[in-house]
Amino acid sequence: MDSTVKDKESLLARLLKAGGEPLSGQVLAEEAGVSRTAIWKWIKELEEEGYMIRPVRKKGYVLEGVPDVLSPGLLKKHLAGDGFVTRILHFETVDSTMPIAHREAQEGAADGTVIVAEEQTSGKGRLARPWMSTAGKGIWMSVILKPDIPPHKAPQFTLIAAVSVCRAIREVSGTDARIKWPNDLLINGRKVTGILTELQADPDRVQAIIIGVGINVNQQPEDFPEELRSIATSVGHEAGQKIDRARLAAEVLRRLGEYSRLYLKEGFPPIKRMWEEDAVTIGRRVKAVTMRETLTGTAVGITDDGVLELRLDDGTVRGIYSADIEL
Ligand code: BTN
Repeated sequence: MDSTVKDKESLLARLLKAGGEPLSGQVLAEEAGVSRTAIWKWIKELEEEGYMIRPVRKKGYVLEGVPDVLSPGLLKKHLAGDGFVTRILHFETVDSTMPIAHREAQEGAADGTVIVAEEQTSGKGRLARPWMSTAGKGIWMSVILKPDIPPHKAPQFTLIAAVSVCRAIREVSGTDARIKWPNDLLINGRKVTGILTELQADPDRVQAIIIGVGINVNQQPEDFPEELRSIATSVGHEAGQKIDRARLAAEVLRRLGEYSRLYLKEGFPPIKRMWEEDAVTIGRRVKAVTMRETLTGTAVGITDDGVLELRLDDGTVRGIYSADIEL
């Protein structure tokens, strides 16, 4: 994504980049190849979205206030030309970003397409659980990836996503985010992020991987229902400060691109190493509650398929494919 003005989003990116200096309507119009009235219309639309733009006589427009939104323009500014994200679709309210991403992927959306919403009214979690997605307080997004890999390798992308989000949260908030197998992120033992990976595939080739990422960013404990307060928290609450959602979302996307490229070049080993470094589960005694049984043992590592290896008290090692883990 370059910074040439060609639409409302790129105009915003340009105003942000100007860092408070006025930008002339005439220059912007020439750059975009549109009339000054068209520029003025985009400015009005941005104002309606909450951006504060002051016209300075004879000099142009100055951006003075940025709303707390995950708009494509703001994300692009934070991504600063990183090539991974190809397109951002931003919604105020949706049922869930997952079906939108599926539809877009089927209709030919490119690798690196992002669907992001301020609010989800029927957010989907793992194992068909609901996912609470309060308006303006979190990051609710689905990313379309189209890597040229066989379907059995797709679960490795869930681990790429977990490492990306974990490291992005740590960088932006300074908190000690950790991964809990399979792909929850915890801060101080409580969940801040869930990742849901879905697949469109032929028998031997992946068509698209849809990675759904839900991050609790700026909720306070009272924003969660009573029954969730002991297990869920937000990045901002744990960091003791309001977190810039657009900056965090962009950092997640930047890392998702970086680690996907690393994976496609060097395979799974570097990802597995990062995942094991970031995981709170490995080396710990855990209880794995599966559909059929409850097992207790020491988590010793993960396989290349992301299966958790648990050493039971009798010394045997069992692979856990799906379970809730209690630390
Ligand atoms: C989990 O159960 O831990 C996974 C939660 C995944 C939630 C995200 S929010 C964005 C995307 N849209 C959804 O409906 N779900 C995923």
